[in-house]
Amino acid sequence: MSIKTSLIVAMAENRCIGKDNKMPWHISDDLKRFKALTTGHPVIMGRKTYESILGYLNKPLPNRTNIVVSRAGFENTHDVPVFLDLEQAINHAKSIAQNDDKNEVFIIGGAQIYNQSIALADCLHLTKVHKSVDGDAFFPDFDEQDWQESERTNHMDHTPPYSFITLERQ
Ligand SMILES: NC(=O)c1ccc[n+]([C@@H]2O[C@H](COP(=O)([O-])OP(=O)(O)OC[C@H]3O[C@@H](n4cnc5c(N)ncnc54)[C@H](OP(=O)(O)O)[C@@H]3O)[C@@H](O)[C@H]2O)c1
Repeated sequence: MSIKTSLIVAMAENRCIGKDNKMPWHISDDLKRFKALTTGHPVIMGRKTYESILGYLNKPLPNRTNIVVSRAGFENTHDVPVFLDLEQAINHAKSIAQNDDKNEVFIIGGAQIYNQSIALADCLHLTKVHKSVDGDAFFPDFDEQDWQESERTNHMDHTPPYSFITLERQ
């Protein structure tokens, strides 16, 4: 079985994804979509995003193997798998997915990790938030020509308005 590498991200019009190591908005349907897509699949993240999740939940994301990349290391109180190298982390995620009969692994941020992994991704699960926001973490610019939109739902009545978009590499 071939296993897809997917990036999942919520970003503003100006590509902003975070501020002060937090999400710059609260869109509960986005959190539900994130949960629905990633539960049961390995998720890979940078150390700062992992610490942000611990700040919100006091624990790793439940019902998914949380895989963290860090060069410097950190106090690993929840004993999650930690890798010094992103490709090794992705390979580990794929071996878990294979054992669990899953065909997708998710890279869930943040900015540094998206930057280093977008070239490796087969699929992007985007939430486009239709406003510009102030922040300090940004999703990399990518060439839309490389991607084909396979799904879109618009939620323009919400404040802020947003769209769920799935892009597959062409
Ligand atoms: N909107 C969204 O969908 C979304 C999703 C996720 C995160 N975010 C936001 O993104 C922001 C965090 O992004 P960030 O760029 O600051 O941090 P990050 O990408 O989450 O983590 C960066 C850390 O990852 C480690 N790292 C980076 N590249 C590595 C590599 N090749 N090998 C091993 N370790 C590596 C380093 O950890 P060490 O310093 O420990 O060596 C680095 O400091 C926050 O604001 C968060 O809320 C938003």
